[in-house]
Formats: sequence, structure tokens, C-alpha cells
Amino acid sequence: MEEIIYVDRKNTNCNKWDGQTGMFGEEGLHAMWVADMDFRVAQCVVDALEEYVQLGVYGYYKIPEEYYQAFINWEKKRHGYEVEKEWIRFSPGVVAGFHWLVQMFTEPGDAVIVNTPVYYPFLNAVKNNHRTLICSDLINQNGRYTINYQDFEEKIVSKHVKLFILCSPHNPAGRVWKEEELKQLFEICRKHQVYIISDEIHQDLIFGENPHIPSLSIGDYQELIVTLTAPSKTFNLAGGQNSIVIIPDERLREKWDAYTQGNRVIGGNAFGYVAAQAAYEKGEEWLEKVKKQIAENYEYLQAEFAAKLPQAVVTPLEGTYLCWVDLGAYLGASEMKEVVQKKCRLAVDFGDWFGGERFGTFIRLNLATSLENVKIAVEALVENLS
Ligand SMILES: Cc1ncc(COP(=O)(O)O)c(C=O)c1O
Repeated sequence: MEEIIYVDRKNTNCNKWDGQTGMFGEEGLHAMWVADMDFRVAQCVVDALEEYVQLGVYGYYKIPEEYYQAFINWEKKRHGYEVEKEWIRFSPGVVAGFHWLVQMFTEPGDAVIVNTPVYYPFLNAVKNNHRTLICSDLINQNGRYTINYQDFEEKIVSKHVKLFILCSPHNPAGRVWKEEELKQLFEICRKHQVYIISDEIHQDLIFGENPHIPSLSIGDYQELIVTLTAPSKTFNLAGGQNSIVIIPDERLREKWDAYTQGNRVIGGNAFGYVAAQAAYEKGEEWLEKVKKQIAENYEYLQAEFAAKLPQAVVTPLEGTYLCWVDLGAYLGASEMKEVVQKKCRLAVDFGDWFGGERFGTFIRLNLATSLENVKIAVEALVENLS
């Protein structure tokens, strides 16, 4: 029987607990940021890695057929999506993947659109590559987010947008997009010849009623879309640096292959493959248990805030384990760091990171941890804000 085991990760060289200085200017904060889990991985992953470690030889690795099959079976079983092996490529992380795709699909100066607030490396990928960032804000109705199609299309046309980076499910707005929402976006993109990077790294962390819809599984938009996904969020394997690129369209695949061959990136780290294969083959029971813990943490947070900080707007968690909360009724944007970090002693992802000052009263809390840790964070906020 699989058990979910909380691990005290302090002093293990993990970013979340031991690497806070870069973003917060200090160490020792109660860590509710960085999207990885404080849970020990599935036992099948430990067993597979142990077996490989015991081999004692870590030379060049031939990606086994079973690795591809494990991922293909997972996609079919969990999402009803049939991926063909020929479509699958590698990148050493989804973030690296979308940086490369920005370079592949656009030229310096070209406009790239995102739906803000959004996972901030999207913004960096555009800026780091000297492209022009265009933000189309989601519509926020009391914490529930939808797409502003009119704004999205107007900006695509007026700014001559070449590329859209989609976050599906959406970090930090917690949305699991419905098929009709995705279709509407894709129709606009097709009409104006805009390529789409579909970041589906949170695809397996679904808590609401909407199922995750793989972008490539709907309609005939394949000539526009490259999907990025990974076992890293699902199975807590981010250190394995193994992510998956899905490219059904032959022309886009040729583009990708030319780019990666030009940079001599053909495959990843052996340990990452071993871990990913085991997880996709045998990690399902573990994932279901982890999701239960995350759901429990979210229910606790929601109930506590409703009772003790009733004007905090907690976004419904349809997907991801990242909870987006607006504290604007209690704090101004300029007070956030002073209160949340200095007084509450919390390391959270601050709202302005996700697209600017207008999100400055938000925080994003990582719920993939013990209920005790969530309680510490919630109690600190209640004490200092109520
Ligand atoms: C939307 C999204 N994409 C990508 C990543 C990270 O991907 P990777 O670690 O594979 O580079 C995250 C992590 O939080 C994320 O939320």
C-alpha cells in the first residue's frame, strides 16, 4: 500500500527551503512557494532508481521503448489522448522547452502574447529572448477567471502577435480550461496565423469537475501547436529534468529537430528517464493519494479564510496545487512584502511576479505539503491581517 510521507527537506539543498535568498533576500522563511512537493515520491520511483544506482555504471543511456510506452499509456488512460511515439521529443524542463520554442517560432522584436496573471517564466522567456511581451489579462470575477477573447484578438491584430504561450491548466488562476474555451482561443490564433505553445505541465493535478483537455486532442489545430508536459509536477520529479514535447505536425517537428540538432540536444539524464518511466507505469495510486492530501489542504484553507479572513478572495482550485489568493481587502500592494514576508515569515510567490503591480495584492500558496505546514501559513496570515 502506497503511503504519502511528508519529508522535512530543510538542509537538503532544495530551492524551496534552502534557496530563498535569491527571491526573498533572506533564508529561514516558512516555505509555501516554488511548485514542487514536500512529499516523498512513489515507492516505485525509489525502487527503479535504486536498481539503476546499484548497477554502478552510468554511461550513455539508450531511451527504452518502455519509457515511451509508459507515457503513451498514461496519456491514453488519464486523458483519453492517443500520442504516437514519433511525435515525442525531449527537453530538459518545460521552461527550457518554451524558451527554445520562442526562439524557433519568432524573431527578435516579434510580439508574443500571454494571459496574465501567468507563470512568470513565460514573461522571462519573452524578455530574455528580446521579443515583445503582450499581456491579455484574464477577467477576474470574484476570484473566478475567464478569457477576454475580445482583448486577446484585438491585441493579436494590433500588435502583430506571432506566438501565444498558453498555460493549461492555468498557473496561478487555477483554471482547467474547457474545450469550448480552448477552441475559441485556437480559432483566433488560426485566423491570425499565431503559433501556440501549450504548457500542460499541471495536466494531472485536477481537482474540480472540468477534465483536462489536451490542446492537441481537439479540432485540427495541429499545425499551430506544440505541447509541453512532464512527470515533474505530477510525480514530484523536477530534479530529474526530464520533460516531454509533443509535436504531431511534421513540419513543426522538422523545425524542432533542426533546432535541437543545431544545439546538439538529443536526450536527457538517465536518472530522469528511469524515474519518469517508473512513475508513469506504476505511480497512479500514489498520485491519487497525494491529490487527496492537496484537496484536504485546500478545503482547510478555504474554510479558515472564510471564517477568519472573510474578505480574502480564494480562487477556486480546478487544477494545479497552487492557490491564488487576493488579500487586497486587508493589505495594499506596497504593504505585502512587509506583512507577508517580514511579519508572517512566509515565503510565498508574490502576485506582482505574475505580470505586474496590478496583481500586487495577491499571493500564491503551494499546497503540496503537509496540512500542518498549511496551518502554520494560514494562522500566520490570520494573526497578522485580521
Ligand atoms: C506552468 C509551468 N510550466 C513549467 C514549470 C516548470 O517546468 P520545468 O521545471 O520542467 O522547467 C512550472 C513550475 O512551476 C509551471 O507552473
